[in-house]
Formats: sequence, C-alpha cells, structure tokens
Amino acid sequence: MKVSIIGTGYVGLVSGACLAEKGHEVTCVDVDAAKVARINQGVSPIYERDLDAMLQRNLGTRLRATTDLRAAVLDSELSLIAVGTPFDGREIDLGYIREVARQIGAALREKPAYHVVVMKSTVIPGTTDSVVRPILEQASGRQAGRDFGVGMNPEFLTEGEAVGDFMDPDRIVIGGIDAASIAAQERLYAGFAGVPVIRTGCATAEMIKYASNSLLATMISFSNEIGNLGATLGGIDVADVMRGVHTSRYLTVTTDDGRALRPGIVGFLEAGCGFGGSCLPKDVSALAAQGAAAGSPMPLLGAVLEVNRGQPARMLDLLGRHFPVLKGVRVTVLGLAFRPDTNDMRESPAIPIVRALLAAGAEVTAYDPAAMEEARRVFAGETVRYAPSLAAAVREAQAVLLVTRWEQFRTLPAVLAGGATRPVLVDGRRLIDPGAWTPYEGIGRSVAKGDRS
Ligand SMILES: NC(=O)c1ccc[n+]([C@@H]2O[C@H](COP(=O)([O-])OP(=O)(O)OC[C@H]3O[C@@H](n4cnc5c(N)ncnc54)[C@H](O)[C@@H]3O)[C@@H](O)[C@H]2O)c1
Repeated sequence: MKVSIIGTGYVGLVSGACLAEKGHEVTCVDVDAAKVARINQGVSPIYERDLDAMLQRNLGTRLRATTDLRAAVLDSELSLIAVGTPFDGREIDLGYIREVARQIGAALREKPAYHVVVMKSTVIPGTTDSVVRPILEQASGRQAGRDFGVGMNPEFLTEGEAVGDFMDPDRIVIGGIDAASIAAQERLYAGFAGVPVIRTGCATAEMIKYASNSLLATMISFSNEIGNLGATLGGIDVADVMRGVHTSRYLTVTTDDGRALRPGIVGFLEAGCGFGGSCLPKDVSALAAQGAAAGSPMPLLGAVLEVNRGQPARMLDLLGRHFPVLKGVRVTVLGLAFRPDTNDMRESPAIPIVRALLAAGAEVTAYDPAAMEEARRVFAGETVRYAPSLAAAVREAQAVLLVTRWEQFRTLPAVLAGGATRPVLVDGRRLIDPGAWTPYEGIGRSVAKGDRS
C-alpha cells in the first residue's frame, strides 16, 4: 500500500520505518528540511534502538522522506497525520493538526481517486469528527464518506522501545467514519497477524488512547502517594509495600504449571520521582481539561497530576536530610531523559530537579547515556557541568541523585566505590539495593524513627 505520513517525529518516523519494513511504500513528510535530509541519509534524528538499521534497510526502496506534502498525498492511498499536539496549559494545541488537515484537503482537491486520511496524533475525543473532518471537506471541496475516508488510529508506542512496540503491538485500534475508512486501515495492518484489532468510531478510538494513559498515570501517582505517606510515618518501605500489593492474584497470575506471570502494569506500581515525557502529563492534563470544559470534571485525574507535580521536590527533601544547606554542595544528577533508552527530555523530572538544585546554589554535574546533547539545549545558559561518563560524573560528588532508570546505573555502588568521595545516594527510582551503598536514601522509603545512623 502507498502511504504518506505527515510529521516525522517519534511517532511518524517509527511508524514510517516499521510500515516500510512490513512491505508498504512509505513517504515521510516533515516541514523540518534538516530532519528530512538526515532521514534520507539513513541517520535517525531521534535515539531509538534498531531505528537506524531499519531506515537504512528501507531507504531508497520502500521509504523516503520529503518536505513536499502535496506530492506525497497525491502519490499515496492513505495519509497518517502524526504531527505534535502540545498542551498549552489549558487545552491541546490543534494548530499543527489544523494546518496539516488544510494542506491534505488542498491536495485532495486535485486528486480524483479515493483517499483515506487517518489521525495518528493523540487528540481529545471528538477532534477527528468535529475538527479534522470539516477542515478536510472545506479544503478539498469534497465530501467525507463519499469522496474520501477519515479514520483515527491512536499510537501506543513507548519511547525507548518504540520499534519493538510498533512491530509487535498488543492491540491495534482502528476508528473510522465508515466501513471503507476502517477497511483501508485493516489493509495497512494486514501484516500484523494475530494482534487483536478494535474497530470502532473515531471518538471512541481517541478516548481509548487517553483512558489508557490516564490509567498508567493514576497507578504511578497512587504508588507515589502511598510511598510519600510511608516515608512520613517511618519504618515503611514502599518497594516492599508494592511487592505485597502486586503479588495478589488479581495482579500476578499463576499459570497451571506454577509460574508467576508478572503483568506489565505492575511496572507502573512503583514509587519514583514522577512521570514525565511527551505523553502522560500532557494527555492526562488534556483529558481533565476537556472534562472540566464539558461540565464533567475529573477530580481523580486532577489529583494524579498534583501528586506528580510534587514528586521532584521529594528528591530535594531526601537530600536535605544530609545537606540542610545546598550552597556549594557538589551534586550529580544521573539521568536526564524522562525514561531510559531515549534522549527525549520533554517534561522530564530531571528538569525541575536540576533547576531546584541550581536555585539552591548547588554545583550541578549531569550525566545521561543518551540525552547529553538534548540537555545542553534544555539547560542552555544555566551553569550545569556535563560529565563524559558515569564514573567521571560521580568521582568528586558529595551527593548523587538517580533520576532515570537506565540499566547501566545498576552498577552505581561499584562505580561509587571507585570514586574519590563517599557521596550520599538519593535513589529516585529505587533501582539500587539499599544495602549496597551507605549513605542511601530511596524515594518512598524511611527507616524506623530513631534508627537513622
Ligand atoms: N512520542 C510518543 O511517545 C508518542 C506516543 C504515542 C502518541 N504520541 C502522539 O503522537 C503525536 C506526535 O508526537 P511526536 O512525539 O512524534 O511529536 P514530535 O514533536 O516528535 O514530531 C512532530 C513532527 O511533526 C512535524 N510537523 C509539524 N508541523 C508539520 C506540518 N505542517 N507538516 C509536516 N510536518 C509537520 C514537526 O516538524 C515534527 O518533526 C502527538 O499527538 C503525541 O501526543 C506520541
């Protein structure tokens, strides 16, 4: 199938490379000419495992990138819209979506053949039907459902695991305004045999995406709230608490041959220094805002966000147990990306943590295995020192804050042992065994009152 993908960011580029790998002829479109040039050279602008190899395998045969949206739409049967939908504090900004819908509509004016336009960006329920469809109709002078199809196919990939998630999805949600719009998407995903497909309307497809992310965010904030109370009361360790919670048969299934299957959702039942990224904070905020605007407030989601906003400060509280005054203290922040295996720092908890440390007068050193270039951009003009390696980052530190759950940080006790100082380790992800390093502080963990050495 000939497919054009408009917007070549995390979602657009991964979708494009993976759909080409599945045998489709894909044209990726972006307004960013530098990004397009980089992709055409086989170099991914984002750090994502296996993506460069996949680009190189398909470029020149089934995959290409361009800035020419019109030509890409005219030369394809189906267009996926994958541009950004940032949240401006009140609502999601549909500016990019509107612009792309207008441009696709204008191209369809010149195209007599049937075409299907599918929304892949995350948009609040109702957007495809009540915003995108009318713009397409107006710009094309044609009628949706008769002259062209409209669909909504939300994306569930997780950054850092995006290629694997796309190639081996747990479900495919296909929303459409009619049977033809749904059938076209079924052809797009024909190569994903055995994956459950949910066929539905566009607004329901949009809500599935928001409900999914809201559930994950709720579980994280729930764990953090329990951890925060445990830390206040003393003598409670949230890691043990959550282990006790999720080994319940409601959450951990025992198979007939006696194996315990730990479902992925359990990974969200872990206390930490907060969720970030381009999706969870934005999607939960956008849905809560839509609920409020529609006269159906969502107090639960409001609380999920409030708990999350407070988590980065917990890291400084733990540090404050050892350094009541941070002025001049050498603090190393480990992990800047919002999660491991990505260089994406959007809404990363590391950002407020670094800024709070700087505001308190600490001397901040930062290290991340993938996000150093991005960090230099985010903290441009701020006095952050960047270390070339984990060992160099911690060598002179008086305190080390572990913020992102990178696997390589598990070696931290051994690395710290080789350093020149004996820093306090503040573990924001509960990655390190508390017994493996002293002095240790872990989020959601407190020793019994009076036991502190
Ligand atoms: N990043 C994720 O993990 C993820 C996962 C699932 C869903 N989503 C959703 O997918 C959408 C895209 O997210 P992303 O992270 O890929 O965004 P992104 O910011 O990485 O990429 C968007 C791209 O669109 C391009 N663009 C903007 N206007 C354009 C135009 N008029 N024509 C062509 N290209 C244009 C930008 O240059 C950019 O490269 C968002 O709605 C997001 O919420 C993201």
